[in-house]
Amino acid sequence: MLYTDVIIVGSGLAALVAARQLSKHKNVIIFTKSTKTASNSYMAQGGIAAAIGENDDWSSHFHDTMAAGCHYNKSDHVRALVQQGPEYIEQLIAEGLEFDRDTDGRIALGKEGAHSQRRILHAGGDCTGKVMTEFLFQSIQGNVTIKEQEMAVDLVIERGRCRGIKTIDENGAVHYRFASSIILASGGIGSLYSQTSNHDSVTGDGLAMAYRAGVELVDLEFVQFHPTMLWKDGEVLGLVSEAVRGEGAILVNDSGRKIMEGVHPLGDLAARDVVAREIFKQQQQGLDVYLDISPVSYFSNRFPTIHKLCQEYGMDSPLLPVTPGAHFLMGGIKTGRGGETSIPGLYAVGEVAWTGVHGANRIASNSLLEGVVFGHLTAEKILDQGSSQRAEIPVRPRPQVFTGMLPEKQAIRRMMTAYAGVERNQRGLSILKNWLECYFNPHLPVSLDSRDTAEKVNMVTAAWLITTSALTRMESRGGHYRTDFPVSRTEWNNKRIIRQMQEQAAVM
Ligand code: SIN
Repeated sequence: MLYTDVIIVGSGLAALVAARQLSKHKNVIIFTKSTKTASNSYMAQGGIAAAIGENDDWSSHFHDTMAAGCHYNKSDHVRALVQQGPEYIEQLIAEGLEFDRDTDGRIALGKEGAHSQRRILHAGGDCTGKVMTEFLFQSIQGNVTIKEQEMAVDLVIERGRCRGIKTIDENGAVHYRFASSIILASGGIGSLYSQTSNHDSVTGDGLAMAYRAGVELVDLEFVQFHPTMLWKDGEVLGLVSEAVRGEGAILVNDSGRKIMEGVHPLGDLAARDVVAREIFKQQQQGLDVYLDISPVSYFSNRFPTIHKLCQEYGMDSPLLPVTPGAHFLMGGIKTGRGGETSIPGLYAVGEVAWTGVHGANRIASNSLLEGVVFGHLTAEKILDQGSSQRAEIPVRPRPQVFTGMLPEKQAIRRMMTAYAGVERNQRGLSILKNWLECYFNPHLPVSLDSRDTAEKVNMVTAAWLITTSALTRMESRGGHYRTDFPVSRTEWNNKRIIRQMQEQAAVM
């Protein structure tokens, strides 16, 4: 039996920022189901957005974030994000974190989609996440225990408070770990789809655990597809950062047409949902889409990770074959500014959390920023609570509602890609919902006693949550595009009002 002050599930940037701050005053243990570097944060290429440029200011970053999010964002949290972000980043720089600089020694700022300014700080060219997380691993060394290969499979809730987690280690042994505060920082849902930028281990575990425990979740239909996954023979090989388009690369189809021309005023640098949909549309017409990197100067220096990836797969042509892939979930566990959830003692931060800052579609490079800002705010909130709540036993595991026959992971990915992908509609979502519900059976409960079973149960649960949310939202907005409701409710209302006015004018 293990007791500590704070348990964190996950080892991405938000987890590390919170752990670092908390460990100055409390004992902190991080549990991760894989290795500590197996996170989306570690793989993040583009960078971290912050209004630090000479002609930039937080209000411009605020405006761009809101516009990309279709104004569905929680504006006070966006304000906290963009106002506090630069300060936290400057602190990290002062402590030794190194971002790339230009020849004059100033921080080099990149450009990405939907940003009106160059405001993306990057490190190692295109391995910003790796540089940032390694810096944080270094700075928590000796102060925070990291338990790798131990998967959290359920939350322990007693008398309305989260007291701990149930875990399974790499030998299949079950443990109960208790703490005064539990932080879920377990990432998103990318691996529910056949094409994804995410690490394989990102299977919606945090969402599913939270759902089983009755924690409030929100906006799960908003799934972001990154437009440019490098791919070959139907297999995704890795991400090609949006920063590449920021340096001049252009999307073309196999007849050489610039596909974003005339689609959106921002062209290739429109928000991700717009670009991903256009690529998808081209593919539906039987056309292949390529990212033409020939306009990018010094590609191999500026983007060494992507360059290496292309070399590994023998891609010498400047035309990189690309396809959209699941990248980020805008919805998640509903949290307040300090990461607090609807269950006392439980906090959430990073992609698993809904802070509302991303609205219906996250703008580029705001996810590492969210990790830094809300990681801090969550740690501060926990420190403010004091240490009065001591964890208690005993444990009464909640019954599960899945049949012993679970689908293969590949089958879940195929179904999600086909019916809850870049485009959705009532018919497809209903097929998907019915298929997922075949695996629900309260009379044949499956117990979460192996990691593989737990992952499959979590994948079915998260898939079902996304599907039912997508069925409920009868409009298109940001990352949720319904072919049977192709406009947003706001647009639809505006059109209706205009029509009514025209009709009235015609009568008069
Ligand atoms: C990218 O480099 O294109 C991804 C960065 C992000 O998701 O913000």
